[in-house]
Amino acid sequence: MMKILDQIEDISPAISYAGLIERIEILRSTLRWSSRLERTDIDKLLRQATSLRDEVMQLSHKERFVQAAVAAEPEHRAQQSRGARRQALLERSFIFEGTFGDNPRLLESLEIAEKAAPTDLPVLIDGESGTGKELMAKVIHANGSRADKPFISVNCGAIPDNLLESELFGHRKGAFTGASNDRKGKFESAHTGTIFLDEIGELPLAGQVKLLRVLEAHEIQRVGSDETIAVDTRIVAATNRNLRKLSEEGKFREDLFYRLSVIHVTLPPLRERRDEIPLLIAWFGDESAGTLKRRPVRLTPRLRDFLLNYAYPGNIRELRNVMYRISCLAGDMADIEHLPTDMRPAAPGSVAALQGGMSATGQQPISVANLMSLSDAKRAASDDAEKAFLERGLREVNGTVAELARRIDMNRSHLQMLLKKHGLHSKDFRNRNMPASNTNGADERDDDEGDA
Ligand SMILES: Nc1ncnc2c1ncn2[C@@H]1O[C@H](COP(=O)(O)OP(=O)(O)OP(=O)(O)O)[C@@H](O)[C@H]1O
Ligand SMILES: [Mg+2]
Repeated sequence: MMKILDQIEDISPAISYAGLIERIEILRSTLRWSSRLERTDIDKLLRQATSLRDEVMQLSHKERFVQAAVAAEPEHRAQQSRGARRQALLERSFIFEGTFGDNPRLLESLEIAEKAAPTDLPVLIDGESGTGKELMAKVIHANGSRADKPFISVNCGAIPDNLLESELFGHRKGAFTGASNDRKGKFESAHTGTIFLDEIGELPLAGQVKLLRVLEAHEIQRVGSDETIAVDTRIVAATNRNLRKLSEEGKFREDLFYRLSVIHVTLPPLRERRDEIPLLIAWFGDESAGTLKRRPVRLTPRLRDFLLNYAYPGNIRELRNVMYRISCLAGDMADIEHLPTDMRPAAPGSVAALQGGMSATGQQPISVANLMSLSDAKRAASDDAEKAFLERGLREVNGTVAELARRIDMNRSHLQMLLKKHGLHSKDFRNRNMPASNTNGADERDDDEGDA
């Protein structure tokens, strides 16, 4: 008992979340495993709890102060400080493993990864499907002292229950029908390196008990063998489920949850970091062009606009896939028709379609889950109205931009910008049988065909 108590005091007093959480964990296990405490032990634990509380308060004070300072910054300064944060990571030789973006929430995750990487503490990564959990696990591995050791990935959701134990811990020849040879499990393969337990929320309860034992004793037994084998493996787990909720429902062991989530990293969905979409479009556009050995595909303004506003339920993976798809299917220029059908937007008249709760095809009701948020929905509706207005206007003036600008009392270059935004081409609105309504318009008509 006293040995554990002394251990708490040995830990460096420098304040960091990782350090604090580790000390809290030690405190918790001291309490969990002690059947009886002497008064002196109680006093010592109380002192330690008080000091932990004060440090948490201090850390949170510092954080609130820094966040308030950032919030008070004008937009461009805030942008600068993001760039600076990413730059600072680079200067500290942080390895990004191809992680793009400088959204503050992503940077925060990367900064936690940076601090967690050199420790051997378990890390739990959660986030929706396609938010980059596996990539983050690789970032943690790459920035730690085990970087040149194996990184072994196990998808806990993909292994049949009866094979799970043998998959993780290996088996001896003859342990069960089909076990024709001795076989090493994933934990042994990951010895000295990192094991990535993907979809940990799918691990059945029996597997959870066994995993807990490895975490506590750092040793395994192959199925059918009495011999214990020491394993030194850093554990990073990922899930797209809410493990806390699962553990409240009794579907995930609470003690395992706390063991795994000493460091907890949550990756935000792409719709909550929309500012990164343009960068990711450019990045995956170039990457796919490289893979497919073609020139980077160009996007019509209408497609670009759609991609910038889409909700991405499949997050970064969906964006990446769609860029590869259009790079493969489109010629020089990609448009809406190159999108997968289930992703395509409601066609013109979608405001009406939306109001009727139906998609443009008139078949499928639009699910609210496919809309990004109320404010995004309002913006999309207002964009649709703007586009319908411009189309009607162009028809009335027979495609003469200067005339439309005069009629709606709008600066001509601003109008051209709007047309470009909606992918409208004035020449599509010219009726060949009719003279342009403005006879001076001939020179003006062609200059609205901006480059996409
Ligand atoms: N920030 C990022 N920058 C660049 N690429 C990214 C980023 N985040 C994710 N990706 C890419 O998106 C794809 C999906 O990422 P990953 O497989 O890590 O997601 P995941 O959260 O594990 O998804 P799932 O839950 O479906 O398993 C990968 O191709 C990955 O390289
Ligand atoms: Mg994954």
